[in-house]
Formats: sequence, C-alpha cells, structure tokens
Amino acid sequence: MLIYEGKNVLAPMVRIGTLPMRLLALDYGADIVYCEELIDWKLLRSVRKENVVLGTIDYIDKTDGTVVFRTTSREKDKVVFQLGTCSAERAVKVAQMLEKDVAAIDVNMGCPKKFSVDGGMGAALLSKPEKAFEILSSLVKAVNVPVTCKIRVLPSLDETVELCKILESSGIMAIAVHGRTKEERQQHANRNDVIQAVAKNLKIPVIANGGSKEIESYEDIAKFRENTGCSCIMLARAAEWNCSIFRAEGKLPLDEVIKSYLKYAVDFDNAPANTKYCIQNMLRELQETPRGKKFLEAQTLEQMCSLWDMGEYCRQKQQEYRKLGLLTRRDVVP
Ligand code: FNR
Repeated sequence: MLIYEGKNVLAPMVRIGTLPMRLLALDYGADIVYCEELIDWKLLRSVRKENVVLGTIDYIDKTDGTVVFRTTSREKDKVVFQLGTCSAERAVKVAQMLEKDVAAIDVNMGCPKKFSVDGGMGAALLSKPEKAFEILSSLVKAVNVPVTCKIRVLPSLDETVELCKILESSGIMAIAVHGRTKEERQQHANRNDVIQAVAKNLKIPVIANGGSKEIESYEDIAKFRENTGCSCIMLARAAEWNCSIFRAEGKLPLDEVIKSYLKYAVDFDNAPANTKYCIQNMLRELQETPRGKKFLEAQTLEQMCSLWDMGEYCRQKQQEYRKLGLLTRRDVVP
C-alpha cells in the first residue's frame, strides 16, 4: 500500500507521463509516478491485454487499436493512474477495471483546459464540491487501492481549506495541491504559503506541487519541501525538462537522459509521435542546434535513435520484436 510520506513524485503530465518517462523517473529516484491524465470514456472503450513480448499490460482502444495505457510489473507498486472524469459511475467502472494493475487512483480536479472544464471535469470540480465528494467517496468504497485527488488552490485560503476538508472527508488517502488558481498560469508565483496552511489544517498528507520554476537542482527540492511544509513533493516541468532532477547525486547531462529515455522507448515499443514529443520537450531551445533540427525531421524511432548513436540498438530490437509477432502500431510519426 502506498504511503504518502517523504516522497518525491513525478506529476501527471498529458503525453509526457507515458511508460518510458515513468520508468526513467523511478531509475533516477522518484518514489511515486503518475501517468498522464486519461479520460474515463477512453478506458471504457478499451480492452486489457497482456503483452507477452514486451512484458506489459496494455489497455488497447477497441476502436483504433492504439495503446491507451501501458504498464509493467516494475512500476506496479508505484504508478498512480490519473483519471479525468465528471461521473462517479464511470470513474468506479474504470477504477475497478484498473485496480489490479496500479498502486493508486487519482482524480484530476485541476485541469483548466476548455476541453476538461466544458466537460465538467478537471478544474470544473473545484466549484462543485458535492460532485467531487460523490466521485471520490464512490471510488473509496469501490476499490482496494488508495484514492487521491489533485487540485488547484481557490482564490482565498479559507475557501481552499474548506474545499480540502470536504474532499478529505470522502476517505481519500492524500491530496496533491498545485499552488495556483485555475485562472493563473505557470508564470504566476506558486502560493507555497497556501499549500502550507492547507497541510496544517488537514489530517491526510498533502503533496505539494507547482514549484518547478524554482527547482533547478536536487537541493531545491528540499527548499520547496521546507517552503510548503509538506513531506511529499510533486514535480512536473522540472522532470519534463530533465528527469534526472530526482537524482540525489545531481542532474545528469541531457544527452545521457535522452539516451536512457530512448532505450525505454525502444524496449517498450513507445509510439514514435509520443517519443518525439517528449524529447522535443527535453531539447527545448536545443531544437535550434544542427542535431536538434535533424531531430525535428526524424519520423521513425530508428531515425531518432541514430542521432544518439543508438540506431543499431533500435534496429535489432525492432527486428527481434517483429519476429516475435509484435505489431501494435504504425512505425512512423503520423
Ligand atoms: C501538466 N499538468 C497536469 N496536471 C494534471 O493533473 N494532469 C495532467 O495530465 C497534466 N498534464 C500536464 C502536462 C504538461 C506538459 C504540464 C507542463 C503540466 C500540471 C502539472 O501536473 C503541475 O500541476 C503543474 O505543471 C505545476 O507543477 P510544476 O510544473 O511547477 O512542477
């Protein structure tokens, strides 16, 4: 059972938090890793399959054959499945389908994107505490793994504490708090003082989030812990840019991180489009360098790998997988 104390957590990030990034974060020292937010109906139209070649459990979309969620035994006790939902009934169905494959279920209550909010999901739940409570308490009753949620702060401290107490009373095991309101963007200061006050007012652990702008080294993680008074901290962008931020020994050069990422992408047959997106988000301004420009032209995993001297590794592994009959998807970035 997951214990939310003194943990360093990889935050949920759409498209970034697929299997290669989660395994890399664990290698570097993350204790808990969230998958990207996945919407309930996407899971409900998927089927669970054991992938014997890769040693993974795959949830495959029945309509188009794409992998919705891929996980492996190595992360079973550490992976948190983040659900986007506005329905207790659908949430319960998905959670029951997944609970034997994941360590915990989290509900996204912070996403401010139009798609989420218009659908009554994400940050829309912040202004519907009864609905949020219904979803969480139904989940708590329905599954044997811990249930948590991730929120943004409300405009005032009192409202935030009041909301958190309602959510806490649903029986959740922990709550992640991003110290920005749903109207605020990443450039706004994170309200560490509000997170600290929330943590003081709750009995369950609070996972502090939103500090990446000030986190450039492992030592900065300790400062964030101190500034928020939370023993659990959750990192999104700092890990997206260089996942080795979780290493107590210090960050590794980006090239080394990219190579390790690519190895997992090849080993777990990660979709080329997703692999490319994640590496682009690591390269950032380095996309302007000659190698960065070549990378932007790459369409296959092998082309991407060859830029880091791993073309041969990729070719051999893919050949081996083909022989074993692994044919899950297109090999090219669409
Ligand atoms: C996010 N965030 C996010 N949050 C969430 O609850 N579910 C999600 O799927 C995503 N997706 C996502 C994608 C990307 C690319 C980014 C950068 C962010 C928000 C994220 O988890 C976190 O709350 C914020 O980024 C603030 O934390 P940091 O970045 O300061 O550590």
